[in-house]
Amino acid sequence: MKRTVIKGVGRYIPERLVTNEDLTKYMDTSDEWIQQRTGIKQRYWVPEEGNVGASDLGLIASKIALDRAGWVPEDIDMIIFATLSPDIFFPGSGCLLQYKLGLKSTPALDIRQQCTGFFYGLATADAYIKSGMANRILFVGAEVHSTGLDISTRGRDVAVIFGDGAGAICLEGVETDKNEGILSSALHASGKYADKLCLELPASRLNPRIKPEWLVDDCRHFPSMDGQAIFKQALVKLPQVAKETLDKAGLEIGDIDLVIPHQANLRINQAFQRTMNLPDEKIFNNIQKFGNTTAASIPVALDEAIEKNIVNVNNCTILFIGLGAGLTWAGMVYRFLN
Ligand code: ACO
Repeated sequence: MKRTVIKGVGRYIPERLVTNEDLTKYMDTSDEWIQQRTGIKQRYWVPEEGNVGASDLGLIASKIALDRAGWVPEDIDMIIFATLSPDIFFPGSGCLLQYKLGLKSTPALDIRQQCTGFFYGLATADAYIKSGMANRILFVGAEVHSTGLDISTRGRDVAVIFGDGAGAICLEGVETDKNEGILSSALHASGKYADKLCLELPASRLNPRIKPEWLVDDCRHFPSMDGQAIFKQALVKLPQVAKETLDKAGLEIGDIDLVIPHQANLRINQAFQRTMNLPDEKIFNNIQKFGNTTAASIPVALDEAIEKNIVNVNNCTILFIGLGAGLTWAGMVYRFLN
């Protein structure tokens, strides 16, 4: 039976460290408020002068993942690039990355799934692999949030949360009798809540798509979020989708070695931990160091957990869960087995 397995993982976090204390220079906030509400202590942003896009961060993460997989770029049948902060409005960052990898005609697909980009991306890769349309897929989740945040007091509820970064995963279809690789996935969306977390401009439904006064007066080119609405949805939907994903895999939470949740807010993940009755060693969080890196968050967390030997790549069953803008929410069970 064909299974989709991970052959290599890589991450890249830019070097500009921004502590909570640093943010107090731009806005009325405090380290205490940010840590208490989100768990975040610091994040990393791209250089202030710009010229670094999601594909640039993705390129570095990809090279590490390819190296670990023992692949060269020409081995890739397809690129799937997840980001809500593409380098430019179009074409997608996947095409830009493809060119930067020196490839000539390898297909590149961008997906706009925000915090669940990992789930939609890997589920898509799994379907392509199982259908025989591709066998070696490079998934990249990368975000440059920092250049699009309102770092004044007006935008503080959103700005303190987000960090820049990229994660990459090499996925391959293998024929095996072992119950390994992607065991199950569950994807959901509800556009009803689209306005609870969104970035409006430039908008094709408006003519023109953008006007200078909208930027100055309304700041509609910055993300807006109803944080409490998202928070409440997460508390309900994450345990539900965890159960659905486990059921699909024929597993129970006790069969899981580690939960890696999307890193949106430490309090959301702690509430999930309590609901599922998980001991501390069974859940991995790194939002404290990196903030919410959206599509990059789970690949970055997986890479760090592997590096720290928290994930044993010879035998480890992981439950991934996440919720974010869309709303979209999702789960995946993955088993490393050697
Ligand atoms: N520093 C200091 N005070 C602040 C800040 C800040 N950075 N931001 C907001 N405040 C103030 C507010 O103005 C408000 O003041 P008021 O009571 O005088 O009006 C007060 O703090 C409380 O604000 P709330 O919004 O009620 O704070 P809350 O406890 O809900 O925390 C937060 C806000 C952190 C955004 C939280 O709601 C949250 O994390 N929600 C979920 C976010 C999430 O998961 N997003 C999805 C993932 S992201 C994605 O998909 C792209």
